[in-house]
Amino acid sequence: MSVLTEFPATYSPLPLRHAGIAGLGMYVPEQAVTNAEIAKRVETTDEWIASRTGIRERRVTRPDEASSDLALIACRQALEDAQVDPAELDLVLCATATGDYVWPATACILQDALGATKAGAFDLSAACSGFCYGLATATGFIQSGMMEKILVVGVDTLTKHLNWDDRSTCILFGDGAGAAVLTPCAPDEGILSSVLRADGSGLKSVWLPAGGTRTPTTAETLESGRNCLQMQGKEVYKFAVETVPDVIQEALDKACLKPSDISLLVMHQANIRILESAARRFGISMERVAVNVDRYGNTSAASVPIALRESAEQKRLKRGDIVVTVGFGAGLTWGANVIRWNRDY
Ligand code: UT7
Repeated sequence: MSVLTEFPATYSPLPLRHAGIAGLGMYVPEQAVTNAEIAKRVETTDEWIASRTGIRERRVTRPDEASSDLALIACRQALEDAQVDPAELDLVLCATATGDYVWPATACILQDALGATKAGAFDLSAACSGFCYGLATATGFIQSGMMEKILVVGVDTLTKHLNWDDRSTCILFGDGAGAAVLTPCAPDEGILSSVLRADGSGLKSVWLPAGGTRTPTTAETLESGRNCLQMQGKEVYKFAVETVPDVIQEALDKACLKPSDISLLVMHQANIRILESAARRFGISMERVAVNVDRYGNTSAASVPIALRESAEQKRLKRGDIVVTVGFGAGLTWGANVIRWNRDY
C-alpha cells in the first residue's frame, strides 16, 4: 500500500497560513481614444460599440511606452499602499501576454527598476486570466511558508498588437496595469479559495498567430495580418457566459460561501453584457459589480487589479467583505479567487 492511500478518506492537512492583499496600485496611459475617433477610421459607430460592449473609450500607450513602463507605476503605488519596501519582496510575478521582449521576462525588468534586490522574478502567461492565476500562484507560495512578500502585477498593451483596420477587434482593447502586494494575514482572512481552469482546444478562439516559434514573423505574416490579435468574438462570448458563473460557484463552494455573501464581484472587463449576465445569474445587483470597461475597454490581465484599486479609492472595500475576482480569456483560460478582505480602505 502506498503512503498516500494510508490516509483516511477524511484526512485534511493542518490549516495553512493565509495570504492577503496588503496594497493595490494601477496605471493607465494618458491618451484616451473615444469610439467616435475609431469611427473615423473603420466603419462603426459610438452607438454600436457602446450598446454591444459598454465601451466608450480606452487608453492607448505612446509608441515609446512599453508594458513595463505602465507596470512600474502600478507596482510603486501598490508597494506604497502596502508600506512594503521593494527590498523586502521575495518575488515579482508579472502576468502579461505583451511583455517588453519575447524574452527575458518583463518581471525581471520590474525587479531591477524597483530595486527588489532579494526577489525572484518571472512572467506568467494566462492572458486575461493572468491576474487571477497570479493571485492563486502567490497564495500558494505564501501558504506553504516558502515566501512572505510577493508583488503580483497584471499588465497588457494589446493596442500594440491590434489591426486598426479590423473593426471586430480594434474597438475592444485598451492598455493598462494593476498591481497587488500579497503578505501573510490572519487565519480566515485573505484569499480563501482559488479555482483555475484551461481548455487548450480553444487556442484559436483568441490568439496572436505569428511571431512565436511555430510561425515566426516574416514579410508574409506581417502582410497577412497574422502578427495581430485575432478573435472569434461570438465563440469567446459564449464561452465566457457559460464558464464564468460555474467558476464563481465552484470557488464559493470551496470557501463554504454562497452568492449572497459576495460584497463585490470583480470580473475581467471584456463586455458589460458578460458582467450583467453573471450578475443576473446570481441575483447580484450591478451596484455590487466593479465596472471599468466603459472607460478603459478590455485591458486583459490588468482589468481585475485596476478594478480592485479603483474600488479601494471609492471606499468600496472594507475589512471582512467577500470579494470575488474572475478572469477569462485566451488559452482558453479562466479562473476565480474568493477573498475575505483583510484591511479597510
Ligand atoms: O478578453 C478576451 C475575451 N474577449 C471577449 O470576451 C470578447 C467576447 N465577445 C464579444 O464581446 C462580442 O462577441 C463582440 C463585441 C466582439 C461582438 O458582438 P456581437 O454582438 O457578438 O456581434 P457579431 O460579431 O455577431 O456581429 C454582429 C454584426 C455583424 O454584421 P452582420 O454579419 O450581422 O451583418 C458584424 O459584421 O455586427 C457587425 N460588426 C460591427 N458593426 C459595427 C462587427 N463589429 C462591428 C463594429 N461596428 N465594430
